[in-house]
Amino acid sequence: MPSRENEMLKAEWEKRRALVEEGLVRELREDEAFDARLAESMKYSLMAGGKRLRPILLMAAADAVGARGEDYLTSACALEMIHTYSLIHDDLPAMDDDDYRRGRLTNHKVYGAGVATLAGDALLTMAFEVLLRQKGVAPETLVRVVREVSIAAGPNGMVGGQALDLASEGKQIDRETLRRMHMAKTGALFRAAVRSGAILAGADESALAALTEYAEAFGLAFQITDDILDVTGDEAAIGKPVGSDERNHKSTYVTLTSLDEAKRLAREAADRAHRALAPLGGKTEFLDELAEYLVTRDR
Ligand code: IPE
Ligand code: IPE
Ligand code: MG
Ligand code: MG
Ligand code: MG
Repeated sequence: MPSRENEMLKAEWEKRRALVEEGLVRELREDEAFDARLAESMKYSLMAGGKRLRPILLMAAADAVGARGEDYLTSACALEMIHTYSLIHDDLPAMDDDDYRRGRLTNHKVYGAGVATLAGDALLTMAFEVLLRQKGVAPETLVRVVREVSIAAGPNGMVGGQALDLASEGKQIDRETLRRMHMAKTGALFRAAVRSGAILAGADESALAALTEYAEAFGLAFQITDDILDVTGDEAAIGKPVGSDERNHKSTYVTLTSLDEAKRLAREAADRAHRALAPLGGKTEFLDELAEYLVTRDR
């Protein structure tokens, strides 16, 4: 939740977060897993809270181009499934080996690494089937969104970024590599969320370009702040361990620059996100508030 005393942001966020919670319950219910323990472990991580930022951004982007974001809740939920899968795998012993996530034990701590791996796999594959449940959209538009999301999640997006993250452990990588890593491991899914919302809503090319610029800046600022919170955060607030990056000898904006420089770069990226909204002229107030939240967030 936003820490800043901004009532408008809080209210909008809460309203949309509640929609996502309901949507996720609905989409899960339609799909009984073959194995009860697998189903339980998928639900354990998916329904553990979380800020629900990617689905919220998808809907907000649709609003910003004059549509009704809520109409695309199904697609928004699919993105949260992919995000949750990425967290389950990110926490595995073979990756960041973390014990807490979203304020509770990590999936593998409860269900074991085998089931946790499968829960991630299941959420990822199920997400694409859920995407195809999206109603009220022309098939060619939906195909475009599926393509957008699959590229963002794959080897040229999130998974590629995670591979770069692993390869950069204990290394002094250059600033451009670090930026590319963040844009991929975290930025790609934010970019896909915003662009999918815009595409579903039938945005024209200039609006799509503006929103893409917003999303790229947003994703970068978000991960820089995540790196900062890994050092300065409060575990109870962030719901995951502080100091994970140091323990894993990760290359982050804090380890490769400094805390102050990381804060400055997050601010710079958030400002870029604000500026990107200027040409849109629609309902961008919420997106603007979210960009400000990037540099003030404490969770
Ligand atoms: C954490 O994402 C992983 C990153 C990409 C930095 P969030 O901070 O959005 O995690 P939740 O969904 O709120 O738990
Ligand atoms: C992971 O980055 C980004 C993902 C794709 C999950 P981090 O490893 O920094 O995420 P946290 O801090 O564990 O949430
Ligand atoms: Mg990681
Ligand atoms: Mg991690
Ligand atoms: Mg982190």
